[in-house]
Amino acid sequence: MAEETRLLLVEPEPEARHVLMRLLGRFGTPSAAATLAAAVESLAANCPEVLLLDPDLPDGDGMTLIRAARAQLPWAQVFILGSESREGDVGWFIDSGANDVIIRPFDVAAFLPRVERLCKALCVRKEEFERLAQLESRLRHVDGLAMLGTLMATLAHEVAGPLSVIRTNADFLRADLLSTAALDEDKRKDLALIADEMDQAGQAIHTFITRIRGASRRNTADAEESSLAPAVDTALLFLKQRITLSRVTVSVPRAGDCPVVSHVPHRLVQALVNAISNAMEATGPGGRVVVRCSEQPSHVLIEIEDDGPGLSQDARTQALEPFFTTKSSGTGLGMSVIQDVMQEHGGKLELADTPSGKGLCVRMLLPRRRGPIAAP
Ligand SMILES: Nc1ncnc2c1ncn2[C@@H]1O[C@H](COP(=O)(O)OP(=O)(O)O)[C@@H](O)[C@H]1O
Ligand SMILES: [Mg+2]
Repeated sequence: MAEETRLLLVEPEPEARHVLMRLLGRFGTPSAAATLAAAVESLAANCPEVLLLDPDLPDGDGMTLIRAARAQLPWAQVFILGSESREGDVGWFIDSGANDVIIRPFDVAAFLPRVERLCKALCVRKEEFERLAQLESRLRHVDGLAMLGTLMATLAHEVAGPLSVIRTNADFLRADLLSTAALDEDKRKDLALIADEMDQAGQAIHTFITRIRGASRRNTADAEESSLAPAVDTALLFLKQRITLSRVTVSVPRAGDCPVVSHVPHRLVQALVNAISNAMEATGPGGRVVVRCSEQPSHVLIEIEDDGPGLSQDARTQALEPFFTTKSSGTGLGMSVIQDVMQEHGGKLELADTPSGKGLCVRMLLPRRRGPIAAP
């Protein structure tokens, strides 16, 4: 190992350089430089692992070399060969990144074992750095997998909602058709309505998949300055069956009370569906969910309030993390979808107390003009 060590001796004094070069030969392949400029050049060309340095060089401060060596080869060992006048600087040399300091005149018998120790330390440090580099690359790999996982789970989560509407409605349709011998006009209208809903849900899946395929570009290019009423209606349509089955009372603002604001309708529907679903799941049968919209000076505020058990301050922070769920069949992605949608709009998601102190209030803030909302 020691034979392969690359050493650089930076020594302006020719005689000392000559003697030291001979001594260093036993540890590896030494090269020599007499000036700062030559040393910098050698640093780039030879990548020395052990740097033996007289800090007082004719063309500049040798200490700058330590920084350069550390940047290039973080595991390099630096040995300062100081003159007598530098005796008081030993601590400063060490603080500046030197691994050892010796003051001249020095004894060869003391010098050589210290060079040997640095060469050994070099091997250990090199191994440490290699292990670290391996670990880093493994972490990057895991990061990539986690991202892929998030993407797949988001896909599954987003597809699952509209798909369940299709499946439930298809079941209703089939059951109805089977039990009805002859269809009267009213029945036909009902079935046509259900078929329409299935179409809309299918369209939502189509839009989502198309967007994923068309790159992960999520921006507000498709934003429109319009009333929030259609987004609220569509979200409610998606949740209609679940609202009926869960026996939760969900009240939403009247169309006329929904403000106009710049938003991407299908993204806002996703945020609303996720927030209302969470609220319904939190409050349970017999519970109540209220959706409110209001105009504020700098933003439009959408609030989804429930009368469930609420969330502690700590749990609020956790709830926003992707994959965090307290439900046995939860994906833990609803909140992070809402947060993504708000970020895309330059808006904000806040989890607040309700005025009654019971349940949770999910607040979505959409800026009235493009750009992020200023902190209060
Ligand atoms: N309205 C709410 N009331 C109480 N807890 C909630 C509410 N909304 C979300 N949470 C908590 O936040 C967690 C994460 O929510 P979410 O991201 O939608 O994932 P999931 O619903 O799949 O669990 C939920 O598991 C729940 O513990
Ligand atoms: Mg959820």
